[in-house]
Amino acid sequence: MSTLETPAWLGQLKRAVSKNKRDAHSRYFQLATRGQDDYPRVRTLVFRGFSDVGWSLFSVTDARSEKVRELAFHSRVELSWYFTQTREQFRLRGEAAVFSADSDPEGHRQRLWSALSEAARAQFFWPTPGAPLGDTEAPSFSQTPPETFAVIEYTPMEVDHLVLAKTQTRSLSEYVAGQWRETPINP
Ligand SMILES: Cc1cc2nc3c(=O)[nH]c(=O)nc-3n(C[C@H](O)[C@H](O)[C@H](O)COP(=O)(O)O)c2cc1C
Repeated sequence: MSTLETPAWLGQLKRAVSKNKRDAHSRYFQLATRGQDDYPRVRTLVFRGFSDVGWSLFSVTDARSEKVRELAFHSRVELSWYFTQTREQFRLRGEAAVFSADSDPEGHRQRLWSALSEAARAQFFWPTPGAPLGDTEAPSFSQTPPETFAVIEYTPMEVDHLVLAKTQTRSLSEYVAGQWRETPINP
């Protein structure tokens, strides 16, 4: 398969997103990073869409958050995403890139900011995440993303797809030497 073709796992993942649409939980995945103390860190994020080119996907976060500091130090990540209706899990291993106010040549921040609800936007005007609880600041609203708004783009290089049907199936897709190779493996 050439780099220009859609990898099979991406078609399967898009199908899972579409088939599980009615379940609000299907929009959440877990992101694992490496902490600066070498312990893993994992947390839930909202899926914010696929790229129009290639096979990457996006989420948004607060530029002041711990995960952004971790990604600057170590950009390798794994996402784990379970779809309850179709009972399938995708584990996406690869690289994460953070786009912040001073580094967003492709305009991902403006595009994803425009797609956010007012309630989601308001969170980026809250006090620093993870800091001790203090006075709360009144949110203000803006059509342009504030400096606290960051976009994370994930580019998988290895995808482990497990389907919990009567007969379980599992396949491992790897991007090696410019090609995707999919291998069925034991569940
Ligand atoms: C259902 C759910 C959805 C969440 N979505 C996001 C999100 O899209 N972006 C985000 O930064 N944090 C999101 N969070 C909060 C994160 O899980 C996490 O607590 C926060 O980002 C701080 O993580 P950090 O200290 O590792 O940076 C979500 C939490 C839950 C429970």
